[in-house]
Amino acid sequence: LVSRDLTIKFKPSGRTVKVKGGVSLISVLETLGLTVDMPCGGKGRCGKCTVLFEQGAPPPTSTEKDRLSEIDLSKGYRLSCQTVLDSDAVILIPNSHDSSYVLTRGVARQIPLDPTITKRRAIIPKPSIEDQRSDLDRVLATFQVKRNVSLGLPMIRRLSQAVRDSNYDITGVFAGETPIAFEAGDTTGSCFGVAVDIGTTTLAAYLIDLRTGEQVSVAASTNPQTRYGDDVISRISYTTRDSAALERLRDVLVDEIQKLITVLADDVNITLEQIYEVCLVGNTCMTHLLLGVNPESLAQSPYVPVMCQSLYVNASEIGLELNESALAYVLPCIAGYVGADTVGVLLATGLYESDRPILAVDIGTNGEIVLGYKERILACSTAAGPAFEGAHIKHGMRAALGAIDSVRLEGDTVRFTTVGGGKAVGLCGSGLLDAIVCLIQAGIIDASGRIVAPSEVPAEFTSLARKIREAEKGNEFILASPDDSPADRVIELTQRDVREVQLAKGAIAAGIQTLMRKMNIGSGDLEAVVLAGAFGNYVRKESAIAVGMIPRVPLDRIRPVGNAAGEGARLALISKDMREHAERLAQSVQYVELTIDSEFQERFAEALLFDV
Ligand code: FES
Repeated sequence: LVSRDLTIKFKPSGRTVKVKGGVSLISVLETLGLTVDMPCGGKGRCGKCTVLFEQGAPPPTSTEKDRLSEIDLSKGYRLSCQTVLDSDAVILIPNSHDSSYVLTRGVARQIPLDPTITKRRAIIPKPSIEDQRSDLDRVLATFQVKRNVSLGLPMIRRLSQAVRDSNYDITGVFAGETPIAFEAGDTTGSCFGVAVDIGTTTLAAYLIDLRTGEQVSVAASTNPQTRYGDDVISRISYTTRDSAALERLRDVLVDEIQKLITVLADDVNITLEQIYEVCLVGNTCMTHLLLGVNPESLAQSPYVPVMCQSLYVNASEIGLELNESALAYVLPCIAGYVGADTVGVLLATGLYESDRPILAVDIGTNGEIVLGYKERILACSTAAGPAFEGAHIKHGMRAALGAIDSVRLEGDTVRFTTVGGGKAVGLCGSGLLDAIVCLIQAGIIDASGRIVAPSEVPAEFTSLARKIREAEKGNEFILASPDDSPADRVIELTQRDVREVQLAKGAIAAGIQTLMRKMNIGSGDLEAVVLAGAFGNYVRKESAIAVGMIPRVPLDRIRPVGNAAGEGARLALISKDMREHAERLAQSVQYVELTIDSEFQERFAEALLFDV
């Protein structure tokens, strides 16, 4: 059989490619650099890699029939990891993979500007027969740098040209007191650094003008490692697959960070040469993977990381191409499951300077919890799971275009809004939690988390009973469907979805309660509850309290702070003092291991229930 040439058009990018019939869709997407999330690694288990065939949908495979509803299949939804192309097609890559919805905003903390990287200009005395000192001696003397300082070879190699090209008018680039580059002429007008937050699911990078401390551009994308597993444990298990797996995870991550930094530089018309430092935060597993350090020990008791220390290296050692002499600073971690990202949250919130206890919760793919004030800080991590980022939820997605982001009960009607205001295509974390709260209020979800049978629905909500249907693993509630609500597909909340949320909220609530108990405080003692990360930013405070995830405190004490981990990286970039705080906090924060804490286990069982 001779395979035909096919024409495949991708939307919304509009790119058209010619491929051979019989090729897998995922290989075409990879070649084109079009990414879809593949949390199960392309095994056909998670159902998250959906694309929409507007034309030319191939017959569904049996796996697709298992994972997608009949309506979805008839509309042309297919799993990209299962699809083999056999005819010309027009394929829409859903916006759920659009990085423009990655949370990049953080609450900016005002601190004195004191970056590690600075520039100084000087006129160097020209050599003469009377002054035969070496170029380097004259430059170091002019900048008042000690002669025994350790210097990079690339800098020395370029020195002669720098001083002669500029007629002895040069700019020194310093990391603290140490020169890292000498540039011809006056370049003090431009000095940039980049702060990077490496999330398990998303990456965010910020270009910072080191002369002002201001953020001048931001870029974000999906962590490309998601195609090898959606959480840290599956990534770690991937590293054991073959001898090149660890390097593969590192390479895709470094490539993506490099791409983001290039986007940032292009955005403000600077060259990569003008970037002298990068500060990176991430959870402990992510920083290990970034550095190519095997994180395997994190997955086995006693969950010890290879390293917690911060790291100063040349950026090129990490594989980043910036200025030849650019440095990289990776913030320190606290423990195996409380990483540099949490140190970033501490810097951004200033929790360590507070007179009264502040609770900070960062709900990403893991849930990190910090409770403390200037005298004492406790931290723990809960395996909250990525439910609020859309994984393991039947129609879960991140807060991208078409995601149901809020749900409310109006009389006996369930209403919702979507990101972008258009048709619903899935359910993001805030919508998920709202939906559960509404169904609890309507008596459709009981205290144990069970979706009741239609006959059990209270009289005032019987009109909602018709939206409950029986499924193989418990009942499900139809939140949206093309028949009666602005939706592109049928979006149900399944019994399994509710269980996932119970596990996540139960783990977070029990973690919080355990820390509060150890600190011997009640919710009335809390100065503030700080919610970091995308979920914390978009979740309705009332819903987070109603499901029992966070303590009952007055709503004005609950503060969403956006991407606080990324903000912490920015602060470390522009302030030596902040780095000192980071180093001290990484040592002084007390880590609480919940897996062996009997109190946590008891509280977790209770926290699974809903307070109805
Ligand atoms: S079903 Fe395709 S990646 Fe999971």
